[in-house]
Amino acid sequence: MRRVTIAIDGFSSCGKSTLAKELAHRLGYTYIDSGAMYRAVALFAMESGLVKDHYMDLQGLVDALDGIRIGFQHDDTTGRSATFLNGRNVEGSIRGMEVSRHVTLVSPVPEVRAKLVELQRAMGREGGVVMDGRDIGTVVFPHAEVKFFMTASPEIRAQRRYLELVAKGVQVDLAAVRENIIQRDEDDTKRKTSPLVQAPDAIVIDNSELTAEEQFDLALGHVMKAIGEPEEVQARR
Ligand code: DC
Repeated sequence: MRRVTIAIDGFSSCGKSTLAKELAHRLGYTYIDSGAMYRAVALFAMESGLVKDHYMDLQGLVDALDGIRIGFQHDDTTGRSATFLNGRNVEGSIRGMEVSRHVTLVSPVPEVRAKLVELQRAMGREGGVVMDGRDIGTVVFPHAEVKFFMTASPEIRAQRRYLELVAKGVQVDLAAVRENIIQRDEDDTKRKTSPLVQAPDAIVIDNSELTAEEQFDLALGHVMKAIGEPEEVQARR
């Protein structure tokens, strides 16, 4: 079977990573979480004192970029892929609210984006990847064979994100999560560098009213069509 590139973009907390992981698992593809890479840069900047509250030492961050190594490795304890920053597993540290608040300072920096886009393209060079983010179908892989653009209402997204954080033992307030989501939508869509926009050839999935299973079946159908494999063959697998 032809191994294609699947780009998934959309607003934060829309279930992009859930869909991306499931598709990768079913197709035997590699899943790449591009948001984790921006989060790792934010964590690096926080730990180095380059960002604090709403201040960022832009030149300091740009100068430090060459010393930032980001990658993904299998974590034997969780059985999943984990994000590594300069050789350290940072998967736990990059998902909290503190990093979520600071990532919007570092993600618009053109030098940060140039470095991460280059890395992402290298990771996807061989095809057979599912990558999710904000600019995957527009900037990173404009020629991806399959592009999805995912969306859902802010209320539903806040509720899902809140439950996810609570399940991880993070203490948060639902209103604060909702506010953070709305703020990130605004930051993602209004920034000058690579704002979140729907690629003209992307398939839109609004999952506000879809179960995870319905969404998966819908997306897989589109992928199979793009690969050129009849859905009946896929259904027999
Ligand atoms: O998908 P996420 O919420 O983990 O992404 C974290 C942040 O990184 C988010 O504020 C948007 C930004 N991001 C980006 O600018 N470009 C990407 N390709 C992926 C994420």
